[in-house]
Amino acid sequence: MEKIVIDGGRPLHGSIRCSGAKNAALPILIATLLAPGEHRLTNVPELADTSSTLSLLGRIGCPSLVQGSVRLDTTRIAFCEAPYDVVRKMRASVLVLGPMLARCGEARVSLPGGCAIGTRPIDQHLKGLEALGCRFELEGGYINGIAHDLKGAEIHLDMPTVTGTENILMAAVLARGTTRIHNAAREPEVVDLVHFLQNLGAKITGEGTSTLTIEGVPRLWPASRPYSIVPDRIEAGTYLCAAAIAGGDVEVTGCAPQLLEASLHKLREAGCHVEVGETSVRLRRDTPLRSFSARTEPYPGLATDMQAQLMAVATVAAGTSRIEETIFENRFMHAAELTRMGARIQHVGRLATVEGVEALKGAQVMASDLRASAALVLAGLAAQGLTEVLRIYHLDRGYEDLVGKLRGVGARIVRAPDTTDTDAMIEALDAADRADVSPEEEMAAGAPVSS
Ligand code: EPZ
Repeated sequence: MEKIVIDGGRPLHGSIRCSGAKNAALPILIATLLAPGEHRLTNVPELADTSSTLSLLGRIGCPSLVQGSVRLDTTRIAFCEAPYDVVRKMRASVLVLGPMLARCGEARVSLPGGCAIGTRPIDQHLKGLEALGCRFELEGGYINGIAHDLKGAEIHLDMPTVTGTENILMAAVLARGTTRIHNAAREPEVVDLVHFLQNLGAKITGEGTSTLTIEGVPRLWPASRPYSIVPDRIEAGTYLCAAAIAGGDVEVTGCAPQLLEASLHKLREAGCHVEVGETSVRLRRDTPLRSFSARTEPYPGLATDMQAQLMAVATVAAGTSRIEETIFENRFMHAAELTRMGARIQHVGRLATVEGVEALKGAQVMASDLRASAALVLAGLAAQGLTEVLRIYHLDRGYEDLVGKLRGVGARIVRAPDTTDTDAMIEALDAADRADVSPEEEMAAGAPVSS
């Protein structure tokens, strides 16, 4: 097992390239099941979750090749099953339900169970699929589904569930007749899935609005050209929060600024100077942070996946910030760990108040879920002394080369085995600093330049 070690207190300077969106890549990789043949995808982030998805697809008979781009051959499906050992590690595997039922007429998928941030039921997924004619039985923690004749329907979701919308959408594209999904999720990752499906020949309108209309077609075909995954707005927002909390001047490139407006608004409210380009966002912060209020909401509101990172920023913002989490019932797990670093956070139910402190102090802290771990890394960047973030397998699920990207803008940060002691950690940090010094910088510092 590894940990991330950060020696905080350094402002960040430079640029970070944004990767493709995890929450678009996962449904799109799975959507290839709807169109037998060879698919090519580009800008797929290299993450634990994307490799878990590719290995799940491999287990059901669809081999893939990752060489920069991702090639996936879904000509044959040998098993229509997503086993417990895969689903318990990655809830998004339940997204195979819709495509398997649409293509094979059957599916056996483990119930995902809860996770750190909430119970996360899938009742809306099943209700929508049943409206299309699917029938389910629950047996031994698995959902056994059959669908002999999918027929279009009017579907009303109780809440704009992201993967619920995606699961139902991926079945409706091959159903007979018209389906309308009301109260559909409007997230950019859902829009990206719609665009990918349209490239396969699906007839869908209303993407980005609360009503998706799907005219079912008899079959879909692999697109004639590679599909590029939309940039990750949460990753981009995370690195902008890093610059906000550590101070400095960071530009995130290769992103889609229009998709993270709600987060940019919060960072401006906190006193950061934010410049938006065509495909980049630059954040400068050289004055003290100011407290702010934030409330998470479905898109285009403030993303729940940005809540933990903004809370980290709030811990060192002068005044009292208020953060309300309206999407998940237990998404303040990072608060207790931030408190161990000297943050002053109270939370009751879904409302947290954060009283800004002068400075955080480095400590050993435990990651609990993907975005909470990112928040702890951000806090470490600003803290005095060493911070060790444990259980970083959570981070590897959703951030491509986070240590490398932060090192690239001057953070003193390394990955190290869990058992590494303090001296060895400092040695590793120094070695990383030396490794990152370019020959020009070394010459300027007076050291002999190696030949
Ligand atoms: C997606 O999860 C994302 N994951 C999450 O990102 C993200 O936090 C979430 O949407 C909200 O934006 C992927 O896209 C792979 P929901 P999802 O269904 O679809 C309740 C990350 O960090 N609900 O929109 O599982 C649910 O309990 C992850 O990248 C039901 O009650 O979220 C929650 O309270 C974390 N019944 C709310 O709706 C259902 O059938 C929203 O959940 C479905 C959902």
